[in-house]
Amino acid sequence: MAIIAENRLAVVTGGMGGLGESISTKMADAGYRVVVTYSPANTKWKQWIDDMRSRGQAFSAYPVDVADYDDCAAKCAQIRRDCGEIDILVNNAGITRDMTFKKMTKDDWDEVMRTNLDSCFNMTKQVMDGMIDRNWGRVINVSSVNGQKGAFGQTNYSAAKAGIHGFTKALALEVARRGVTVNTISPGYIGTKMVTAIPGEILDTKILPQIPVGRLGKPEEVAGLIIYLCSEEAAFVTGANISINGGQHMY
Ligand code: CAA
Repeated sequence: MAIIAENRLAVVTGGMGGLGESISTKMADAGYRVVVTYSPANTKWKQWIDDMRSRGQAFSAYPVDVADYDDCAAKCAQIRRDCGEIDILVNNAGITRDMTFKKMTKDDWDEVMRTNLDSCFNMTKQVMDGMIDRNWGRVINVSSVNGQKGAFGQTNYSAAKAGIHGFTKALALEVARRGVTVNTISPGYIGTKMVTAIPGEILDTKILPQIPVGRLGKPEEVAGLIIYLCSEEAAFVTGANISINGGQHMY
């Protein structure tokens, strides 16, 4: 498997973030060539690249506004010119703008829908024809337990994350005979900045008690699932929505 992995190029959107960093580094450890994209607003990207280099991992990195179709088109073309064809796409970039529906503005809604859901179209559109032509591809869309069950304060986020799986299922059907798999993963509460930003009292009293395993998930546990979905052995897994949530939501 490692020999096959070495030849594959993977793009991880939001690949420097909490979950993204684990995905990028674990994929690189597994032998993939990994390109990370980061938000154009991220001023610390160079530091991240340097830190990774000092840990022995070299990444190519591109600023991509995943909410902007034209930017995705231009940057994916650039990635292809610089690094080669894209075999694996992990649509991981996402944001929260948590607030009750009563307080939510149209901008809060649009921003989350564009970054979390439109991004799947914007990025996947750039890579799918090539995957079909080469008869091999993996698209992994990172959704959330809150797209499956809903979450207080997240009408925007839950809607976008639920939408991701509709996209996954429809596209998986269209490309199933072309060697391309498309899957959703739905992590629960993972110990990243997005989760530790939740008010402590809410986390302790409303969220942690609902997780049967009794703790937050670890980013590397989610990355391990992604490694599996990228593998040859996962060729029969497509259109799935794989939960990884410590038993918080079973269905
Ligand atoms: N379930 C039930 N009630 C809740 C609740 C919850 N999860 N969260 C908040 N409430 C209740 C509070 O207890 C409070 O009730 P009272 O008025 O009776 O005291 C009321 O709602 C208002 O709560 P706040 O005082 O916190 O009000 P706020 O307006 O300042 O903030 C909020 C509201 C933004 C929703 C805030 O509570 C919050 O951030 N909640 C967490 C939202 C969340 O779970 N986000 C997930 C982020 S992680 C992620 O998204 C990753 C992933 O994929 C899993």
